[in-house]
Amino acid sequence: MPIETTPAFVAEPAADARFVAVPFGHDLAPPTELPLPVEALLSHYEAKGDPGEVVEVPVALGSGIRRVLLYGIGRGSAADLRKAGASVARKVKGGATVYIRVPDSTDPSDTADAAALAEGALLASYTFRIGTRRTPPEIVFVGGDEKALRRGETIARATALARDLINTPASIKSPAWLAEQARSVAADAGLGFREDAALVGFGGIRAVGQGSATPPRLVELTYAPEGATRHVVLVGKGITFDTGGLSLKPEEGMKTMKTDMAGGATVIAVMGALATAGVPVRVTGLVACAENAFSGSAQRPGDVITQYGGRTVEVLNTDAEGRLVLADALAYADAELEPDIVIDIATLTGAAKVALGLRLGALYATDEPLADALLASGEASGDRLWRMPLIDDYRADLDSDIADLANVDRKMSGSAGSVAAALFLREFTGGRPWAHLDVAGPARATADDGEVTKGGTGFGVRLLLHYLTSLG
Ligand code: BES
Ligand code: MN
Ligand code: ZN
Repeated sequence: MPIETTPAFVAEPAADARFVAVPFGHDLAPPTELPLPVEALLSHYEAKGDPGEVVEVPVALGSGIRRVLLYGIGRGSAADLRKAGASVARKVKGGATVYIRVPDSTDPSDTADAAALAEGALLASYTFRIGTRRTPPEIVFVGGDEKALRRGETIARATALARDLINTPASIKSPAWLAEQARSVAADAGLGFREDAALVGFGGIRAVGQGSATPPRLVELTYAPEGATRHVVLVGKGITFDTGGLSLKPEEGMKTMKTDMAGGATVIAVMGALATAGVPVRVTGLVACAENAFSGSAQRPGDVITQYGGRTVEVLNTDAEGRLVLADALAYADAELEPDIVIDIATLTGAAKVALGLRLGALYATDEPLADALLASGEASGDRLWRMPLIDDYRADLDSDIADLANVDRKMSGSAGSVAAALFLREFTGGRPWAHLDVAGPARATADDGEVTKGGTGFGVRLLLHYLTSLG
């Protein structure tokens, strides 16, 4: 469930603290009797001080034991501190309290601060469970800049919210349920909220949702801080489960498809954190929610639909459903919201996952400054992106004999799957500065690793919060 730990901030660990984590090269405080000098211990364990390294030293504490966790911080970069915080948190059992001494800034040229340490520790202690509750460790930061630590906490909480939404099974997570979650996030964060179930004109969202017992929704969240001049629209794919529809997925490919609303989860979580993060621009979040079900009322391969704004699309493959719901939302944003920048995020294609694997998101953009800013935010935030090409030559592969566009390359004439999907979306952006994030790979992790936990990762929350915060 969400991060249940509320980190505390103190000047010194409690006298009876059982877990005390101290960065390499920093004094142990309060004076703790180590069995050997620190240097001897570190050299015995061949510890070099790399981020992720933790040397555990038991020391006597009254009649019990204190575990001193000597942790490496590498060069002290944000990535190093995230990894360090995560490794420390993973050493501590649920229910126990760990006191983490915050390192002094080692490199004055470094912009990294304690935020990354807090973010890593909190994200690594995230768990999701339906049934018996698993108690997370209590985390107490010792020293350090409390404002920076709170910033890390904000980012971690938003990411954990996205993870919760993604990890919730589709038996619970209908489009209406997802819209309700967005409503409660909006209420907590003071955002505007609107939900559309009638979906007049939204032919893509309706066609994808028509096979499901739980009908589709379009969610719109609004954030308008005083004095904001620019307007960014975020669009998230909110497919609560993707069977493929009548173009049915094989069992192996289907079983993780509750993840197919990860883009929408990211948009909801980011919107919920904008005020706390102090984002200075106007932001609208759109989430196109539908279940791509297999049933007698499902759309058929060969059907022709009318997207928002009037373009017709021949649906040759019902498993290419994400682009149909996103096209409606993008066209609506262009026609009605006057955005300066549009960014969509979606678990759109298996091809993006094949190309870049599980740790990188695919970035497509029609605007160079926007692409550069997102790449930089990716590096800084830990949600890394790789720029992909919008190859015009492949656009003709999406021509249809009977409609304005086909939703897939009918002839399979060799266009790349992730590129073709991006080219399809571009048709609906009205030429506005637009970026598309295909996160089919990094939205889900197969194992715990650093601050990433197995299951839904919340990829994109840190990235978009970093990007939006940086807009002056
Ligand atoms: N949701 C899937 C993409 C996906 C695949 C996400 C694997 C995460 C992991 C998407 O709706 C889809 O099915 N895409 C098809 C497109 C194809 C039919 C052109 C795909 O990638 O196979
Ligand atoms: Mn699909
Ligand atoms: Zn999908």
